Amino acid sequence: MSAAIWDQWNENQIPRFPREKVVQFVLSNFTTPVAPGTWALDLGCGSGADALFLMERGFNVTGVDGSSIGLANTQALVAQMPGTLNVQQACLSQFEVPAKTYACAISVGVLDAAGIDEARIAVPRLVDALRPGGKALLIFAGEGDFRIAGVPELSLHGYSRREVESLIVLEYGVSAWIDTCTTTFQNNVTRQIDWIVTIAKR
Ligand SMILES: C[S@@+](CC[C@H](N)C(=O)[O-])C[C@H]1O[C@@H](n2cnc3c(N)ncnc32)[C@H](O)[C@@H]1O
Repeated sequence: MSAAIWDQWNENQIPRFPREKVVQFVLSNFTTPVAPGTWALDLGCGSGADALFLMERGFNVTGVDGSSIGLANTQALVAQMPGTLNVQQACLSQFEVPAKTYACAISVGVLDAAGIDEARIAVPRLVDALRPGGKALLIFAGEGDFRIAGVPELSLHGYSRREVESLIVLEYGVSAWIDTCTTTFQNNVTRQIDWIVTIAKR
């Protein structure tokens, strides 16, 4: 990853609230609060908007990100929250978390930044990290998304359906739903095309 670019992003452009899809996913799959000691993994946590939302719901959170500034922002944002935040500075192909531990895992706007080679390592590792009954939500850009060409400095990869399918290895007991969400802006001139991948482990 280009650490300088993403440090700059985390300095300047941090989202102040969790993504609507994350809110829907968490509220429809988990009780509020979750049982004490329930862990969530936020892969590519950025500056912590989703981590804060997860901690408000009672999760302990592991936040992984390549940007030290993003992780410092995350720590500052949740400083007053009860519960535990562990942070790990690592790129997507090198993070290490315990297997079969997390009830919830999310990765929002990160697989597109990391690119397909890192994603091929990260997604199976994220699935391994889910405990039985655990659920994951992955959101990342699809081909044709305006950000691919429109924000060239981020070098985002827009995934084709075939590429998305190749990321998910459906071993025994793992189910996945591969969906999309398109949002248009400026009278349909600008199109944000997100893959919305939900994974469940029995
Ligand atoms: C668009 S931001 C999204 C942050 C957060 N998930 C959110 O929704 O606000 C992408 C984040 O992924 C991190 N990132 C990009 N490429 C990465 C990589 N290869 N490994 C680890 N983190 C990466 C960046 O540092 C940045 O914080």
